[in-house]
Amino acid sequence: MNTNTIQQQLPVNEILHGDCIEAMHKMPANSVDFILTDPPYLVNYRDRDGRTIQNDSDASWLKPAMAETYRVLKHDRVAIMFYGWTKVDAFFDAWKSAGFQPIGHLVFRKTYSSKSRFLRYQHEQAFLLAKGRPPLPKQPLADVMDMPYSGNKLHPTQKPVAALVPLVRSFSLPGDLVLDPFAGSGSSCAAALLTDRKYLGIEMDAAYFQQATSRMNRVKERISAKRSSSSFPRRVDDACVASCLKANKLSAM
Ligand SMILES: C[S@@+](CC[C@H](N)C(=O)[O-])C[C@H]1O[C@@H](n2cnc3c(N)ncnc32)[C@H](O)[C@@H]1O
Repeated sequence: MNTNTIQQQLPVNEILHGDCIEAMHKMPANSVDFILTDPPYLVNYRDRDGRTIQNDSDASWLKPAMAETYRVLKHDRVAIMFYGWTKVDAFFDAWKSAGFQPIGHLVFRKTYSSKSRFLRYQHEQAFLLAKGRPPLPKQPLADVMDMPYSGNKLHPTQKPVAALVPLVRSFSLPGDLVLDPFAGSGSSCAAALLTDRKYLGIEMDAAYFQQATSRMNRVKERISAKRSSSSFPRRVDDACVASCLKANKLSAM
């Protein structure tokens, strides 16, 4: 079966509503090029407005979900997964059991602290995980980078698209399929679309699924508008991405 045939069996450029374990189970093995995801951190999160995250207090989904992400990722490719440092043992166990090899650790420096106790907690973190032996990037990213505030308008733990775009660029190629099985408001999918990749998001919460779907439509409209204006070429180039990201517009869209 060639790559095109596999791609035709996959929903592409869509946000699916449902449980990612079930949704990924229906997908062919070795069918996505890059996974960029931000699963629940298992901390029973509730923000000041009372917004919560499904599956954030129960880890029963973790191992089955990681096994499916490993299965659907192509050989010699990588996944980047954010995680909560208080539950690093559970995440690490799930990744290793699934077959992933940790090949890097990313720290995202924030200008604000999410909490202050023994320390001012001021960073997010993610592991870079390999399936097989991925090729080295030509220009490796630094493993410490800045993460601007997203505003959390669409989702209580919304990641800023500006911090995700370099990751998509470094670990996938234009036309590749990027999967986010815990899509939330669709930030990884927006980063993929903006950089000329295909995307597939999965989100189980009906309200966040609606947010992500509407957001992707707004991002598509914005890209089309930029492409049709005389000052932008047909492809989504750096200037288009920069313009779309300006003043964090895409995080607020
Ligand atoms: C930390 S949030 C992701 C936020 C996202 N990075 C953003 O920028 O909006 C994790 C998301 O995973 C969703 N979720 C939890 N368990 C899931 C499952 N089994 N299948 C699909 N989505 C799930 C939650 O509803 C939540 O929106």
